[in-house]
Amino acid sequence: MAALTALRFVRRWFLLLLIGPLLGGLAGYAVIRQVPPMFEATVTLLVGQGMVTNSSGTDQLLGADQLAQTYAEAVRTRPVLTEAANQLNLPLSMRDLLDRVHARRVANTQLLRISAEQTDPSVAAALANTVAQVFVSKNQQVQTARFASSRDGLGQLVGGLQNDVAAKAHQLDELTAQPASPERDSDITLLQTQLSQLESMHAETLRSYQDLQVVEARGMNTLTVIEPAVAPEDPIRPNRALVAFLAVIAGLLVATGVAAAAEYVDDVLRDRQRVALATGLATFGLVPRAESGTSLRDPATRRLAESYRLLRSNILASVPDQAQLRTLLIASPAMGEGKSTTAANLAIVLAESGRRVILVDADMHRPTQMKLFSVPGRPGFSTLLLDPNVSASDVIRPTWLPNLSVLPAGPTPADPSALLSSRRCDELLNQLHELCDLVVVDTPPLLAQPDAALLGTRTDGVLLVVDASRSRGRQAGRAIEMLRESGAVVLGAVLNRIPRKAMEYPAYDSYYVSKPDAVFAAD
Ligand SMILES: Nc1ncnc2c1ncn2[C@@H]1O[C@H](COP(=O)(O)OP(=O)(O)OP(=O)(O)O)[C@@H](O)[C@H]1O
Ligand SMILES: [Mg+2]
Repeated sequence: MAALTALRFVRRWFLLLLIGPLLGGLAGYAVIRQVPPMFEATVTLLVGQGMVTNSSGTDQLLGADQLAQTYAEAVRTRPVLTEAANQLNLPLSMRDLLDRVHARRVANTQLLRISAEQTDPSVAAALANTVAQVFVSKNQQVQTARFASSRDGLGQLVGGLQNDVAAKAHQLDELTAQPASPERDSDITLLQTQLSQLESMHAETLRSYQDLQVVEARGMNTLTVIEPAVAPEDPIRPNRALVAFLAVIAGLLVATGVAAAAEYVDDVLRDRQRVALATGLATFGLVPRAESGTSLRDPATRRLAESYRLLRSNILASVPDQAQLRTLLIASPAMGEGKSTTAANLAIVLAESGRRVILVDADMHRPTQMKLFSVPGRPGFSTLLLDPNVSASDVIRPTWLPNLSVLPAGPTPADPSALLSSRRCDELLNQLHELCDLVVVDTPPLLAQPDAALLGTRTDGVLLVVDASRSRGRQAGRAIEMLRESGAVVLGAVLNRIPRKAMEYPAYDSYYVSKPDAVFAAD
């Protein structure tokens, strides 16, 4: 059922569902053509962490991993990015640089990737490489600065001690060159002691200085470019195929939305699903739209005849006991939906099946049956309602079908609804029941006159006629409410005037059984 509904939806809106995605795709393509391609180049660096005292190998690896993450954040800072842009003479603002340069650590590794996006692939590669280079050298500077003060202090101390040693040695040489005396010898001994103290201090300070240099070298975090960026061949954006595909899908969605909204706004009862949804009724028959000029006895109307016969079968099958169905009321929500035509043809096919049928034209506002059956219009139903002395058998008119008689509407009374709610109306229907097996009653529109609802309570079942090309779901729903409120039993619906094309569609047509002969009335 759902598949059929979907199929019907697609069939009905096929053109829109085709044009929507097509336009979407074209629009997407037109937009994407305006967007310049963007290239991305990436440089890969290895982050090495300096030795940290008292740390195990694992801790150190984890540290390097975290360091890589810190570096990934530090790359996108103003000093690094602006210097790189200046070196390349790129007129990019900090905001542009932040948009175009990205850095990320490769998870669970010591690798750091710096990417740059540019419309020119070689500029992208140059920017990535320059950012990496600037970052590496800035990192180097920071690292060196960390040890500079202690290293410089120690260096000066070593230099000073070296000078002191040299001065003492020179002093000793001069003293040794003087003529020997007991004072000179004691001075030499003193100087030699001082010199050896200075030499050992110098040696110690120099060792400390050298140790510091080793610590500095081992403690430096290193950044090494292991794969420089090269100019990429393919752009990363825009992905034209993806954009075009998404645009097609968007077009399809918009088209489907428009079609669904149009279906919602337009609640014409086109098919049995819509009838069921709006009225809760089963559709007993589908009557195709007849060519204009189709006459009541035209043998070319086989299909119409078949549809009325099928309607007859479905109505009779819907009641538990056919003999209990003595009066069948034909009603419709609005004007001109086909009540009179349906009543006439249904009366004909019921008579054909051997039942004695009287067709009563209870539409005293716009009577039709006398024209359809070419019988005098008066006296008729209104005459019988107004005058209890007139007998029904005197007023009903025979037709070309032996089992079928017609009771025309008669002259239009001042207040038809008052007559229809009178006791005389009940008596009259009883009289008619005695003359036939089944009374078929044609009525005025439900939403225009109270007549059909008044008669509905006096009949055994109501058939609701709806025009498949214009009857509205909301109107039909209201009509059903009126009938149910009056206590009438609504048996089902008949969809009239179904377009020929739609009738060829299997969902409409599959119940049809071919039978010869034809009956119809349409002018
Ligand atoms: N299936 C059909 N195909 C083509 N024309 C049709 C069909 N059914 C009815 N008609 C035509 O539509 C017009 C209105 O039909 P009909 O008189 O039966 O409607 P109605 O509901 O009785 O109207 P009213 O509300 O005025 O009583 C008539 O000209 C009739 O011949
Ligand atoms: Mg009518």
